[in-house]
Amino acid sequence: MGQIGPSLMCANMGELRDAIVRLDQSNVDFFHFDIMDGNFAPNFTMGPDMIRSLRSHSDKPFDAHLMVEEPERYIDIFADAGADMISVHAESTIHLQRTLTNIKNKGLQAGVALNPSSSLNHLDYVWDMMDYVVLMTVNPGFAGQKFIPLTLDKISRLKDMVHEQGLDIQIQVDGNISYETIPKVLERGADMLVCGTSCLFKKDESLEESTEKLHTFLNEFNSNRVTNS
Ligand code: DX5
Ligand code: ZN
Repeated sequence: MGQIGPSLMCANMGELRDAIVRLDQSNVDFFHFDIMDGNFAPNFTMGPDMIRSLRSHSDKPFDAHLMVEEPERYIDIFADAGADMISVHAESTIHLQRTLTNIKNKGLQAGVALNPSSSLNHLDYVWDMMDYVVLMTVNPGFAGQKFIPLTLDKISRLKDMVHEQGLDIQIQVDGNISYETIPKVLERGADMLVCGTSCLFKKDESLEESTEKLHTFLNEFNSNRVTNS
């Protein structure tokens, strides 16, 4: 367990195609695109044209994380650009259920993202419309931030809720996913790891070295879990 999804906002933007090709060959599981509008999140990062121009370089799922106000206005654009999965923040749209319906009607996987301070109650009436939940473990906006410890309990509680209802919903964690935090989030039930500067995009390591280390770490973690259970 623990799918690896490189956070491409952390790649060298001048060499994005090279990064996608090398990460694809290094067997990552999906690609995470952080989309910000300078409004919902205090930064500007990637956009639909980047997804469109990179699409032909990998068959792995492209996951668009919309950190924008009124995301319902942009579902078609991101779907048409080549996203396979789109998550929207519960805090960013008045009509969350409608927005998720629109994503699913496009044939894509739909996700709800929650800021660290947002309650799991946002999910109460959209359980049937979600394929994944993105639990932010830092506040949206920037790479290299500190992990917010209270989000660990949120992962456990969400995992219990998903189990109790017998749903097939993946838990994605985003923000400071590192060798220190990976065991903690996996033990609590995270399925998908958004991997940024904390574990994958390192100045002193090649992308191949970083992904190899990450695969080895996850394999060891998983085999220890099997042995101890
Ligand atoms: C926040 C971003 C970051 C990003 C960077 O909006 O989504 O969490 O993935 O990862 P880290 O925190 O490892 O630099
Ligand atoms: Zn993200």
